[in-house]
Amino acid sequence: MKACSQCRRTYTADIAFCPYDGKALSVVSDEEELGEDPLVGRVFIDRYHLTARIGEGGMCTVYRGTHVLTRKLWAVKILHAELAAQRRAVKRFQKEAQAASRIDHANVIQVTDFGTSEEGYVYLVMEYLEGSTLKRAIQTDGPFTLDRAVHIVRQIGEALDAAHAQSVIHRDLKPENIMLLPTDEAERERVKVLDFGIAKVQEDTGDSAPLTAQNMVMGTPQYMSPEQAKGLELDARSDIYSLGVIAYEMLTGKTPFQGGSSKIILNKHANEIPPSPRRLRPELSAHVERVVMRALEKSPLRRPQSGSEFARELELAVRLAATMSKREAERSLPPPDAASAPPPLALERSPADVIMASQTVLAREQPRRRATWRTVVIVAFVIACAFIGGMIWWSLRS
Ligand SMILES: Nc1ncnc2c1ncn2[C@@H]1O[C@H](COP(=O)(O)OP(=O)(O)O)[C@@H](O)[C@H]1O
Ligand SMILES: [Mg+2]
Repeated sequence: MKACSQCRRTYTADIAFCPYDGKALSVVSDEEELGEDPLVGRVFIDRYHLTARIGEGGMCTVYRGTHVLTRKLWAVKILHAELAAQRRAVKRFQKEAQAASRIDHANVIQVTDFGTSEEGYVYLVMEYLEGSTLKRAIQTDGPFTLDRAVHIVRQIGEALDAAHAQSVIHRDLKPENIMLLPTDEAERERVKVLDFGIAKVQEDTGDSAPLTAQNMVMGTPQYMSPEQAKGLELDARSDIYSLGVIAYEMLTGKTPFQGGSSKIILNKHANEIPPSPRRLRPELSAHVERVVMRALEKSPLRRPQSGSEFARELELAVRLAATMSKREAERSLPPPDAASAPPPLALERSPADVIMASQTVLAREQPRRRATWRTVVIVAFVIACAFIGGMIWWSLRS
């Protein structure tokens, strides 16, 4: 969480300067996180006791609220008071509620209520998610295991397909807008996609145009598709590109393009080929790399055409890589001793196995190399004989 040195507003968003006064933001500790907030501790719209501030972006604050009668926890997202008077901001907030409500899917946040309080606060109420953002998970345990990355990509992919089936394009897919809910199994979290704040409902035409100022590029530079970076018309495949960036980051610990200003990053998305993920994580297989790079193609036509297509491709590539390394491990086992039972399959290799495996490969390579040399000597000998024979025949004839 970051705080403004001037107005002390806090932000979870990945921004460097306060959108209100332009002052630099500094990272603050968890205790400082909550800070002073007039709404914390109050009962909001007679129903929700707001107990903590759990997130903040440029336009809204998210609170944890306990329903006063049922005691159930909810997340209450409230538009900043200064923006409640701006028609465009309220309309966009309303759009977020509408876009999220259209999608009924286990991997998409459920919005249950939307309105304006008597004091003029514009709010929406969502299911409360107990977990952490994907952003935090990458910071603490990235890069992820292949299985974990596939498990997360599959669920985001399904959430996107459900959104796209309802003509909703998310347009701001990034780890900060994805929550991971722990389950009984480690690394098998349930995923929820949130924040449809700049989502676009494709079928609404003129109505959505005034919500974003002309030529204004919306989104988060590190995760924006080339067409989004250029301010072009978007379709569902723009979200697939963002999912590709997320997969890249989960697998390598880094986004494809970073450093420099937003403008530089956008320019790179539009024009540069991302650095090879295997340069950052050499043990990744070529298949896995190819699938991730396909999602990052500049042309939407060349990307996987849906979230589940991308997830399927990634899963297959990961399985292929696992099968190949399993075969490699099997091949490198010493031949079974006739008297002993057949050795078990080497799925997980211990350091000792690795040393043994490399020695076995070397031992096999030496006879092969000797055989190659023998062939070269024989061929040279045959050529020399043929040449000498030819010379003798020619001298006898003349
Ligand atoms: N339903 C929820 N349950 C728990 N935490 C949430 C929920 N919704 C949002 N948050 C937290 O608040 C942060 C900001 O929420 P988000 O909807 O992305 O708002 P913004 O539009 O300001 O980015 C999220 O990154 C997450 O940490
Ligand atoms: Mg957000």
